Amino acid sequence: MSRHYAPKYDETVAWIRSKCPPSLQHVHIAVICGSGLSGLVDSVDKDREKVVIPYKDIPHFATSTVQGHPGNLVLAHLNSIPTAFMVGRFHFYEGHDLALTTYPVRVLALLGVHTLIVTNAAGGLNEAYVPGDVMAIKDHISVAGLGGRNPLIGANEERFGPRFPAMSDAYDPDLRRTFFRAVKELGMQSIAREGTYCYVAGPSYETRGEARLLVQAGGDAVGMSTAPEVVAARHAGIRVLGISLITNRVPYRPVPSVSHEILGTPVPPAEKNQAPEQVVNHEEVLEVSAMRAKELQGLVRKIFELLPPP
Ligand code: 6GU
Repeated sequence: MSRHYAPKYDETVAWIRSKCPPSLQHVHIAVICGSGLSGLVDSVDKDREKVVIPYKDIPHFATSTVQGHPGNLVLAHLNSIPTAFMVGRFHFYEGHDLALTTYPVRVLALLGVHTLIVTNAAGGLNEAYVPGDVMAIKDHISVAGLGGRNPLIGANEERFGPRFPAMSDAYDPDLRRTFFRAVKELGMQSIAREGTYCYVAGPSYETRGEARLLVQAGGDAVGMSTAPEVVAARHAGIRVLGISLITNRVPYRPVPSVSHEILGTPVPPAEKNQAPEQVVNHEEVLEVSAMRAKELQGLVRKIFELLPPP
């Protein structure tokens, strides 16, 4: 791990600003678009300036390598608010260390961002959730973070925040209220949820046993992003709204035994009448996000209209 990686934030910020007109020298809000959710950027004001910068051109940025994740930083206005969109993001499982994964968040902080709307595609752990549901994140369990993969490990960058930042109220309650006001105005109540997001490193999906552990810990959804970015954002004093699109159900009932078939012993009682569970794949994840793309776009636009002052 490159703990001694010296980020050159100011160079990156100056370079990005050199590509932007005066109205976009400072941005107030950032939106990180999750898997299949790049369409969120289509909501921007069409009659205003828009700057599209490929990540590969930005000094000290990593490059994104996942299908369904293009890699562009887009600066534009949304509801007249100067906004940065990360279309595609960096994941730990791509081989970037967490400092690089969360580097853009700190750059956004220096560009003036005070509010971050972070989206992702996630598997549903909560029994009641169905694919297509949209969950406001109220808390997260960073399994990888508890295991020592925290983006703030290393010398503290005092200019952003304190050595030991609190995370107990990481997901701003006012922003969640705004989310649900927007949901109500748009009549999306039947698909809206509020729950706890579990962050795992990936790239393999969970075993049933692992998923069951997360359910028992109180997790409602699970994914491979967001928590590191939120930790970096909260460290830098940015308020956060997290939105998960539930793209599939996560199988977590015990793996069916086979021993009784061979040995003639009784079927374990817990396995009787067990409904089969669907196994997840990335294509399904992209299909469901495509299905909800337009609604999510409308929701984010409405949230922008209702946003409380910082
Ligand atoms: Cl089932 N697991 C994880 N870790 N991430 C996901 C997912 C599942 N579905 C979408 N993203």
